Amino acid sequence: MSEIRGIAILGSTGSVGRNTLDVVRHLGAGYKVVALAAGRNAALLLEQIREFRPTLASLEDAEAGQELRHEAARLGTRLVTGSGSAIQVATCQGAQLVMSAIVGAAGLRPTYAAVAAGRRVALANKEVLVVGGAAINAAARRSGAELLPVDSEHNALHQCLRAGRRSEVRRLLLTASGGPFWEREAATFAAITVEEALAHPVWDMGPKISIDSATMMNKGLEVIEARWLFDMDPDHISVLVHPGSVVHSLVEYVDGSLVAQMGSADMRHPIQYALTWPDRCPGQSRPLDLTDLPPLCFYPPDPARFPCLGLAYQALKIGPLAPAILNGANEAAVAEFLAGRMGFMDIPRCLTMVLERAATDESVPGTHGEPGVDDCLEADRWGRETALAAHETLSLPRQGETGR
Ligand SMILES: NC(=O)c1ccc[n+]([C@@H]2O[C@H](COP(=O)([O-])OP(=O)(O)OC[C@H]3O[C@@H](n4cnc5c(N)ncnc54)[C@H](OP(=O)(O)O)[C@@H]3O)[C@@H](O)[C@H]2O)c1
Repeated sequence: MSEIRGIAILGSTGSVGRNTLDVVRHLGAGYKVVALAAGRNAALLLEQIREFRPTLASLEDAEAGQELRHEAARLGTRLVTGSGSAIQVATCQGAQLVMSAIVGAAGLRPTYAAVAAGRRVALANKEVLVVGGAAINAAARRSGAELLPVDSEHNALHQCLRAGRRSEVRRLLLTASGGPFWEREAATFAAITVEEALAHPVWDMGPKISIDSATMMNKGLEVIEARWLFDMDPDHISVLVHPGSVVHSLVEYVDGSLVAQMGSADMRHPIQYALTWPDRCPGQSRPLDLTDLPPLCFYPPDPARFPCLGLAYQALKIGPLAPAILNGANEAAVAEFLAGRMGFMDIPRCLTMVLERAATDESVPGTHGEPGVDDCLEADRWGRETALAAHETLSLPRQGETGR
């Protein structure tokens, strides 16, 4: 690579954002941070401005931005603040690659702007494709923007797909850890408590993603993400439970070859892959010691105990906006579960009711024509409201009662 690659980071103060800056430090000359976008963490953003001297920075929290403006200008960085300011970072001059690592649906508009502007986008944020997959793909087709996955399973698939032609791919196999309840008896699922669902045996994650991992909705959202990222028919995307999480995902080719990607669980690996693609550069994470691994075990998913996975496939069949509806409904249902107002198995029951309505109700938002970002966000909102209404009006059994 001869010229300097300019990088803009959406969500620079978060976990993926900070890891991205660490990778840029490691890569050194050849990569330049030209713009940073953060939400509220003004102190960390200022530290990052001091170190990387980007030309542009944004802070969503306008009040916190006031204190920063003068110092940022002194350092040669133009600071923009307030709602939507990350869009300027996403489309700023000199950024060949945009890292999309704002958490949640707030990342959709800036990422869409980067894609529409034809930028190469490294995508960490799942919700961008789960909620806005149809709109993002349509914008990428128009602008020619490339999407490079950072989520470790999708990054693994991207790597495995380099082993053959697209016409030679039979299916994508996403691996799943199975979450904390993989070995738990079906009869006890209705009694699962918030505390049990939050206590993941391996990962220490935020509450929403911990519950998604426990219901396996997280893998369902990843199936949706894979459908849009690789433009793959959902019937050709499978999930394999692999509690060891050593194989990050696999591609099955028509000749029966399975190509897998393995590696240590270090987010800097997929981040660096996306930053340097199509080149590979020496990395910071240690390669796996294959002589020191536990046996690699794989199991089919269990739809009876984990119906959320099947609901993700169902949403993809209903139409382009049903995944956004499912996402909104799931966020609302998980919040109800965390607040102690909904039982664990009520989550899939509630989502089933929302999808049944989405499949039959003509008034569901954005079911006509090619959906835009506003349609996607409206569908997500409709999903939230419909889930809450379903939970309220249909007298679901309380937590602790016998499940279906
Ligand atoms: N962490 C991982 O290992 C990992 C792995 C794969 C995929 N992902 C996905 O990557 C995304 C980021 O994850 P994360 O763990 O880095 O999250 P995180 O640590 O919570 O960081 C979120 C970032 O988004 C910023 N932000 C939030 N709302 C914003 C808004 N309205 N406008 C501008 N910036 C906003 C935050 O800014 P402030 O902190 O300044 O408020 C922060 O920089 C998520 O979608 C996650 O699912 C994460």
